Amino acid sequence: MAIMAELHQEHVNLKRLLDILARKVEKFRAGSRPNFQLMSDVVSYVGGYADAHHHPREDRMFSYFSGRDDKVDALMAQCEKQHAELHQLSTHLELLSNLVYGLRRRSCLTDPVLVPHP
Ligand SMILES: [Fe+2]
Repeated sequence: MAIMAELHQEHVNLKRLLDILARKVEKFRAGSRPNFQLMSDVVSYVGGYADAHHHPREDRMFSYFSGRDDKVDALMAQCEKQHAELHQLSTHLELLSNLVYGLRRRSCLTDPVLVPHP
């Protein structure tokens, strides 16, 4: 059961980070300047950690339990589909984040309110 507790704790931790990201997005929508570097770091960490460590562990667990119960199989298939969708979304977010910071470094995007310099 250790793996279930670890995966659960990772869900709790990842949710905390996603809640921080959601608050930063709300702050931006409200017209304030969020910490873009922090947002970029959260996107990079959540996507990278989930893809490299969290989802592969879940996928191995799904594989182990596969074929034992139709309802569980259906839920695991749904989770595997969500993993693929999350991978695609996090890749897009990371590309967008890299684009914004790449433009800033090239001085194409110099608005200090939109993209603060460190
Ligand atoms: Fe998960």
